[in-house]
Amino acid sequence: MTDICRRYSVGKNSFFALDNVSLTVNKGEFVCVTGSSGSGKSTLMNILGLLDTPDSGSYFFEELNVSELSDRELCRIRNRKIGFVFQSFNLIPGLDALENVCLPLEYRGISLKERIALGKAALDAVELSHRIHHKPSELSGGQQQRVAVARAIASAPELILADEPCGNLDSRSSGEIMKLLSNLNKSGKTVLLITHDKEDAAYADTIYRITDGVISKSEN
Ligand SMILES: Nc1ncnc2c1ncn2[C@@H]1O[C@H](COP(=O)(O)OP(=O)(O)O)[C@@H](O)[C@H]1O
Ligand SMILES: [Mg+2]
Repeated sequence: MTDICRRYSVGKNSFFALDNVSLTVNKGEFVCVTGSSGSGKSTLMNILGLLDTPDSGSYFFEELNVSELSDRELCRIRNRKIGFVFQSFNLIPGLDALENVCLPLEYRGISLKERIALGKAALDAVELSHRIHHKPSELSGGQQQRVAVARAIASAPELILADEPCGNLDSRSSGEIMKLLSNLNKSGKTVLLITHDKEDAAYADTIYRITDGVISKSEN
């Protein structure tokens, strides 16, 4: 992405949450974005994840110019190529682990039988085979986040966007999530991690820092 700006209006005023941000994430890379609260990290992730559009600047996802894509095409790319993990897990309380993991697969017209097979495989990959019929409320925070990782990887996306995935976790569970992300990267996935934890950032190949919407490469 090049010269991305995202402006928010608050009352009569507006300010740049992202100010001329240029960033390239290569296939297979593990990139980390750090920065204090309110610096623009989630705004950046939402644009990278095609959940939001910039006010100016250009963003190419693979070879596609995102500004030329319809909502339908954006949705399709998001669903097939990007897996999201959020700080607050974002699991649906009424569904069990397997149902949560399978839900995004439903939008892709995959048969029930195959959805269940993919969902079970993803939960197996995060070592939760023994908890597939537990509801989120019956799981620890670390386990809930592992379900969210399983949901993100079930559809075999190429890019994983994780916005402070360890923000609500104790250090042991954080370590498990970081190991998962790191292994996913080693298996070929592109990973973009947002964190303000230095130890977690150390897993990345490249570290960027955002300060008041301005990005810079960080020396580690
Ligand atoms: N929808 C919005 N409307 C107005 N201001 C927003 C909106 N979303 C975020 N902001 C503001 O933009 C800045 C960057 O927010 P965000 O990207 O969420 O920061 P971070 O994830 O680094 O904590 C903050 O000052 C925040 O208050
Ligand atoms: Mg944020």
